[in-house]
Amino acid sequence: KKPDPCAFVIFGVTGDLAHRLVIAALYNLQAADLLPEKFCVVGIARKGMTGDALREDLLKGLKQYATRPVDDAIAQKLLNCVTCIEADPKEPESFDHLRDELDRLEAARGTGGNRLFYLATPPSAFAPIAEQLGRTGMLKENGSWRRLVVEKPFGTDLESAQKLNTKLLSLMNEQQIYRIDHYLGKETVQNILVLRFANGMFEPIWNRNHIDHVQITVDEKLGVGHRGSFYDATGALRDMVPNHLFQLLSLVAMEPPSRFEANAVRSEKAEVLAAVTTQTEEEALKNSVRAQYVAGHVGNDDIGDYLKTEDVKAGSTTETYAALKLMIDNWRWAGVPFYLRTGKALGVKRTEVAIKFKQAPFAMFRDMSMDSLAENFLVIAVEPNEGISLKFNTKVPGPLVKIDGVEMKFRYKDYFQAAPANGYETLIYDCMIGDNILFQRADSVEAGWRAVQPFLDAWKKAGKDGLKTYKAGSEGPEEADDLLKRDGRSWRVLS
Ligand code: BG6
Repeated sequence: KKPDPCAFVIFGVTGDLAHRLVIAALYNLQAADLLPEKFCVVGIARKGMTGDALREDLLKGLKQYATRPVDDAIAQKLLNCVTCIEADPKEPESFDHLRDELDRLEAARGTGGNRLFYLATPPSAFAPIAEQLGRTGMLKENGSWRRLVVEKPFGTDLESAQKLNTKLLSLMNEQQIYRIDHYLGKETVQNILVLRFANGMFEPIWNRNHIDHVQITVDEKLGVGHRGSFYDATGALRDMVPNHLFQLLSLVAMEPPSRFEANAVRSEKAEVLAAVTTQTEEEALKNSVRAQYVAGHVGNDDIGDYLKTEDVKAGSTTETYAALKLMIDNWRWAGVPFYLRTGKALGVKRTEVAIKFKQAPFAMFRDMSMDSLAENFLVIAVEPNEGISLKFNTKVPGPLVKIDGVEMKFRYKDYFQAAPANGYETLIYDCMIGDNILFQRADSVEAGWRAVQPFLDAWKKAGKDGLKTYKAGSEGPEEADDLLKRDGRSWRVLS
């Protein structure tokens, strides 16, 4: 289905995000013939930028970041839709000019007044831009639609997220706001709901009676690189947990929605996030590990100390690794720990959810102790080797009763040949057709921040105390193992 005619207005069009992801995704949508028949892309630029210069710049970016070889005809078709208009939130009157120019452009292109405003800007510009769009009446829906796409980070803590929500909701309806979390653009993440609710065999055992605990891992090999100034003010927890890791957690832990529809799904996600136990600061310290990397090798790359990274403050206590133990206070999950971990500059890249089922209740086979059995893990591998695997015990052939763990594996690439994509295609397409299902609602964002706030507060107060280190290229700090060991558990070892 093709979306309605519309104008796709990009703030921050000259930035990295617009080039790397947004334009590259629009190109893939164009290639799949999924852009509106009548369409224009409007880059909002500072003074002096011409349409020709912008198109040239975007083409250069596209050649660098496209997920497939660039076809000139498709690229030209997309670039023919691109124009630029000057506006700057620091000069409010420039938004009056923007409105008039957009009206003119829409009349010429026949896009009918539907507008999608995409904020691919630093977060400090979100509220000022929305404010000006509101003041100039550009968020009013009079027979046409007006939508605002907000990138991450949505706030830096609970208070700032609430403030930003209040501001946006004073200017438009929740339905008009599309808060992006790019994890929801990943096929494997979307598949969690299908795995759980399109199959009859998982859901009956998806609860505290059968599940021992859940592990969510997002390990990255890359260090902080040139993002020192952003990262040092952010840290692993803010950067990854209330958004990406909580998307995984909420999809795994939510109750079945009554319909596969935006508000039904988002209500269940918000509900389960709101049920994550709010820990005291003392509990938060006990149930977490934070650490910084020191020099080491990741593959063939030398990575220096985090503290020596460009734009990182001397003596910074910002964590590049975080591990947390969370509980969910509801009927389904009471007593089942959710262990979360994420870090930079680690030896292996892996994003996965591992669900550990309870052991068989009794050791019935001769010469077998419960400890010698493999752990029953169901693993949802988000990256790399996207797929699902299940580990179970089986008899080793032979006259003796010997038991060993084996794995049943489903890999996407064995079944499906998906067109190469960067994950933004579905998200952008959904914005254009007005489906918020893959976007975060205000209550979920706030519930996420509320759950991590005690950790942020406790770590801030503790400063250097309790901050651990780990070697770049390693599996992370040893203390992260202790977090599970003291509960008689351990992180899943890659097989
Ligand atoms: C971003 C973070 O939101 O997600 C980055 O700011 C991180 O620090 C990235 O590297 C991880 O995304 P992915 O898709 O590579 O897991």
